Amino acid sequence: MPRLAGQQPEYLASQLQAFIDRRRTNPVMNNVAHVLDPEMVKALATYFKDLNPKPLGGGAKSLSSDGQKIYEEGVPSANIPPCASCHGTDGKGADAFPRLAGQLPDYVQRKLANWDKERGQKKDQPDNSSIMQPIAHDLTEAQVKAVAAYVSQLN
Ligand code: HEC
Repeated sequence: MPRLAGQQPEYLASQLQAFIDRRRTNPVMNNVAHVLDPEMVKALATYFKDLNPKPLGGGAKSLSSDGQKIYEEGVPSANIPPCASCHGTDGKGADAFPRLAGQLPDYVQRKLANWDKERGQKKDQPDNSSIMQPIAHDLTEAQVKAVAAYVSQLN
């Protein structure tokens, strides 16, 4: 389960809508999101933004320098752009680009590993998940672990 504290309101609202539309799949969230009206979505998204959580850690410290390199420089040999170019050098995201700073490493790893199964499930309703798709697809398991460890430690 993700940490929501400090998440960008536009991203949160877009994901709640994606659960409602079933463009993003998750049995629990598909049911929860369904009962929220647009006012509630907006209020929730704004509430979480104002929390600025300290990291809980959890990612292996030994991996974080490899993760930092991927985060800041990407993986040029695999054409993977720096995560920082979209998620911000501080990992706090902006607008439609989600915050990754302080996110739980297990969540980040699972989201990247399962991207194709969970996101962009309505081919006739393309969304921002297609921006991340090639990146999630091209990262190796070891790279995912390293970058997840790094972002989990970002304040
Ligand atoms: C070109 C811009 C771009 C780059 C570069 C990028 N991302 Fe993303 N990322 C996005 C967008 C946009 C989303 C939200 C997708 C959506 O709305 O479905 C996202 C979503 C994510 C999510 C899901 C967050 C959540 O809370 O569910 C993770 C994890 C993630 N990115 C990790 C990374 C990592 C790690 C890198 C670097 C290897 C990276 N991203 C590089 C644009 C980018």
